[in-house]
Amino acid sequence: MNVLDIIEKKRDKKTLTKEEIEYFVNGYTNNQITDYQAAAFVMAVFINGMTKQETTDLTLAMAHSGEILDLSTLNATIVDKHSTGGVGDKVSIILLPIVSSLGVPVAKMSGRGLGFTGGTIDKLESIPGYKTDIGMDQFIENVKKIGISLISQTLNMAPADKKLYSLRDTISCVESIPLIASSIMSKKIASGAQKIVLDVTVGKGAFMNKIEQARELATTMIDIGKLANRQTVCILTNMDEPLGYNVGNSLEIIEAIDFLKGNMPEDVEQVILTLGSYMIKLAGKGEDLEENKKKMLENIANGKAYEKFKELVKAQGGEISFVENIENIPRAKYIEPIYSLKSGYIHQINALEVGKIACSLGAGRITKEDSIDHQAGIILQKKVADFVEEGEVLAYIHTNKMEKLEDAKKALLENIKIEEEKIEKPKTILEMIE
Ligand code: URA
Repeated sequence: MNVLDIIEKKRDKKTLTKEEIEYFVNGYTNNQITDYQAAAFVMAVFINGMTKQETTDLTLAMAHSGEILDLSTLNATIVDKHSTGGVGDKVSIILLPIVSSLGVPVAKMSGRGLGFTGGTIDKLESIPGYKTDIGMDQFIENVKKIGISLISQTLNMAPADKKLYSLRDTISCVESIPLIASSIMSKKIASGAQKIVLDVTVGKGAFMNKIEQARELATTMIDIGKLANRQTVCILTNMDEPLGYNVGNSLEIIEAIDFLKGNMPEDVEQVILTLGSYMIKLAGKGEDLEENKKKMLENIANGKAYEKFKELVKAQGGEISFVENIENIPRAKYIEPIYSLKSGYIHQINALEVGKIACSLGAGRITKEDSIDHQAGIILQKKVADFVEEGEVLAYIHTNKMEKLEDAKKALLENIKIEEEKIEKPKTILEMIE
């Protein structure tokens, strides 16, 4: 077998065997296949697609390219959660302490942001002291002791996905159903999850812009889950406008803490309650989804979810004083209001563009070596369907780079569309597929 034959076969729209896929994944992981050969292979998959069997074989080969975490010592059903990515997506930071406070054990590994989408690990690291690399023993110990731990993916977990994901990002090959499905499911299988709840985002700020594509991605991941014996549920959620109001690392932590104290933006609340109700069900802690939502709301109202978040931060070395006094979380040097140029109803806040603007202010990485500015970002004051008066503040830009302000202001104004006609609030939860 050799890599040229494998590239040629995919280039010519032929179906690869399990052995050929394993040969490629192992060769690339061990540096025997070069980046340029892998890039050619990935581009061929991007253009010509893969059959369900090929996608499953790719997933399993990537999952087994490193260690498979054994969580059996936790003696519990571990339900994992993952999002296909978005802008302003602080769901894991809010949701996981809530379900943990209801007795669902949480052993979660998350990623960093790349491109216009943010990552949970970068957000958590904006809490001074919070360690995302506490090591496997401490990770398991924390789950046993307080029912939750949230860390970054270890180096040796699905290393093939790590290499392939970075490569895809540099050659414009992210938005492909077999590549996204295998990337996500390989990590979930390697991280020891028995059941999986997936937030499949749809819209301008998501990798899947159309509902039909999102459905196909969801069913592909559910099918892989079946073959790998991991029950998988997908919730399709709207990502046309950013989720909630805050975009940017520490700004999202502030919004997450506020949520846990009961200040819940409607769209974030719907995503949290829907995903959470399924996590609780799959963990065997409550069959009735509506009842599960009620229990979640109860634990927000009685402070148990917020206390669990504080326990999590403390166990990972974070400074609780910042959580208890969010006004002490460092803010950017420049905070600039953007005023509306006319009165009317907000018809669109383009999530992709807002994500890119936040990135340009310092909130995200263009390449994986870039460092990020935790304080940079945007706080929206309005959501789609809200009314705004001329001269009212639409958003605040937070940045430490004065030279970026003018361009960011202009771009943000261009990407918030205001019209005279009233419009309905868009739906947040679009579909559920299992
Ligand atoms: N998230 C992932 O983990 N992988 C992808 O390919 C896209 C989103």
